[in-house]
Amino acid sequence: MDKAEKIRILIADDNEEARLNIRRMLSFDVKLAVVGEACDGVEAVQKAKELRPHFVLMDVNMPRMDGLKATERITLYIPGVSVIIMSVQGDQEYLRKAMMAGARSYLNKPFSSDELIHTINSLYQITGRKQYYPEAQEIAPPKCEIVTVFGTKGGVGKTTLAVNLAMHLAKKKKKVVLLDLDLQFGDVAIFLNLYPKHTIAELIQEGDSFDLDLLENYLTPHDSGLKVLAAPGRPEYAELITAAHAEEIINVLKAEYDYIIVDTPPLFNDINLAVLDMCTQVLLVLGMDLATIKNTKLSLEVLTILNHRDKIKLILNRASDDMGITIAQAEETLDFDVMAKVPSEGRVVVPALNEGIPFVVSNPTSKASMAVQKLADIIMQGKKNQKIPRKRSKKMFGRLFKQR
Ligand SMILES: Nc1ncnc2c1ncn2[C@@H]1O[C@H](COP(=O)(O)OP(=O)(O)OP(=O)(O)O)[C@@H](O)[C@H]1O
Ligand SMILES: [Mg+2]
Repeated sequence: MDKAEKIRILIADDNEEARLNIRRMLSFDVKLAVVGEACDGVEAVQKAKELRPHFVLMDVNMPRMDGLKATERITLYIPGVSVIIMSVQGDQEYLRKAMMAGARSYLNKPFSSDELIHTINSLYQITGRKQYYPEAQEIAPPKCEIVTVFGTKGGVGKTTLAVNLAMHLAKKKKKVVLLDLDLQFGDVAIFLNLYPKHTIAELIQEGDSFDLDLLENYLTPHDSGLKVLAAPGRPEYAELITAAHAEEIINVLKAEYDYIIVDTPPLFNDINLAVLDMCTQVLLVLGMDLATIKNTKLSLEVLTILNHRDKIKLILNRASDDMGITIAQAEETLDFDVMAKVPSEGRVVVPALNEGIPFVVSNPTSKASMAVQKLADIIMQGKKNQKIPRKRSKKMFGRLFKQR
């Protein structure tokens, strides 16, 4: 080791006193430098990525993401960072799990400073020098797409699209969770013929922060592999759920799932605003009537002020040629392009809802299903909206502009 080079260590433990104690033990060896601390698994992964320590000293039982899961993520996606698990559970099965997750060594709590320092130094001799490539290219972990299906007009087809989209992605073997944040009258479970044992209302009784294992207990699995966090069974429970709860739920789920699809009620409330902030894509659902176009126009303005314009994909639902308004006129009025169109197909869409089988399953060759598949491709590719500058013509919808 270069004389000046120190062995860089990140301490991940939710107990502040334990972190302090480890720091103190490490201070006995001047070659060891603590470069950071993390108080849960999610933070441990994030800091390992930022700080590129030689070693992460990883506690096992931590909130949001446990130490084994965090070890797995670090080992898979952050080259050159080794994990040493610290745990009171000293049984063989536990040790096996830690090694399977990719840990390089294991310390039984409580351990002495000699044991700790010896473990780090000997591991550094074996692996540290070979492993530490600060410039190594990080293997990008699979990114979670958080897709908010939104619209400020009721009944435009948000839930229909959210459910079918989630189902299609699950059929593609993606890990998908569908979050029903239409907290008063959410009907995702009905659309999927599910009878949830637990809903978000019971989940939040567990407190303000959850780990993944706990949260998973409150999800309702569908045979397809799709998981659902259902809306409360009764509208009066809706007010128990806060924007902070929604944020926490999404933060925990995003470490595990490929896609989080969020169904929303048609309004700008605190929860929707928090979700719009966190999401990576917004599907703004539009219908072909003047009232919906007016609402969509206002929504676009608000979302632009909130800096979400780049995330928006405008989706025209119930598209049809005989509505008295053309798509081009709607786009011109909104100054925004429609990215996907789902046709009006009552004979497929409504029975699918009544039977609780999404139409992408019950009728995969229907036009509506094809349109959802195309939409899923757009989402998977993360395609951005093309901005086509337009000159505003006030001829057709002058009424909308006068209201401003
Ligand atoms: N493309 C379509 N073709 C025909 N019917 C449709 C289509 N999309 C949605 N519908 C029907 O419109 C009705 C409203 O749809 P949905 O519940 O998905 O709207 P929503 O935006 O979620 O409403 P809310 O604002 O009340 O939550 C449902 O009966 C649904 O079957
Ligand atoms: Mg709905």
